[in-house]
Amino acid sequence: MSCIIKKNLLLEGKTKKIYTTNNPIEVLIHHKDDITALNGLKKKLLQDKGILNNEISTLIFKFLNSCGIKTHFIRKKNNREQLCHKVDIIPLEFVVRNIVSGSMSKRLGVREGIDLYNPIFEIFYKNDQLKDPLINDHHAVFLKIISYEELNTIYGIISKINHILKKYFLDKNIILVDFKTEFGRNHKNEILLSDEISPDTCRFWDKITMKKLDKDLFRMEKKEKEEVFDIYMEILKRLNVS
Ligand code: TMP
Repeated sequence: MSCIIKKNLLLEGKTKKIYTTNNPIEVLIHHKDDITALNGLKKKLLQDKGILNNEISTLIFKFLNSCGIKTHFIRKKNNREQLCHKVDIIPLEFVVRNIVSGSMSKRLGVREGIDLYNPIFEIFYKNDQLKDPLINDHHAVFLKIISYEELNTIYGIISKINHILKKYFLDKNIILVDFKTEFGRNHKNEILLSDEISPDTCRFWDKITMKKLDKDLFRMEKKEKEEVFDIYMEILKRLNVS
């Protein structure tokens, strides 16, 4: 395995930092301890959350790689960092919903918990100034963010990911309510699943008790930070049981 040298800070987001390396087509992604909600309006430090999310996301991306999904993930480097293929992130969030919750429940005035017979896909335009609005395919193509062909490719990939992860989590008594994905283009213009998949970016409910096991605890309720941390630990524990 070649030696990776961390070089310059390329980008800093709300929960991650991205560093260049001695290899121009690879980056190091560092998971921070910050936890944010409401477009960054609510922000706290949750000590060691970055370590948990790095490990949880590593397990999920390794599993998706083994299932033939093309992702940016190469390997975990240390407890906070992953070595990944460098991509240009497409500024869209692709949300997959299996059960009504969150913004869909509020936007459409329908109660949380309704099972969606067909999963619903939504796209949000990643733009802090506009507060990440929900848009459709035609808006995304008009904005020259993506082509119709690439959108179709990504819809195919998220459908597969949903199928794989629903079963993966159900085997651990976790219902995958909804989740957010991001994609990027590598130097060969191939589309790779990027970013992270963790309790920050998914809704998980316990299969038996229906208890929330994700960032919703931080978003909606006056929970102690320790309780949110314990829930992330619980997810990691369940993923480590095969
Ligand atoms: P929503 O119901 O708030 O639209 O969220 C849908 C899913 O997307 C949920 O699992 C949380 C995730 N998500 C993110 O990962 N980042 C975000 O900025 C937002 C708004 C949602």
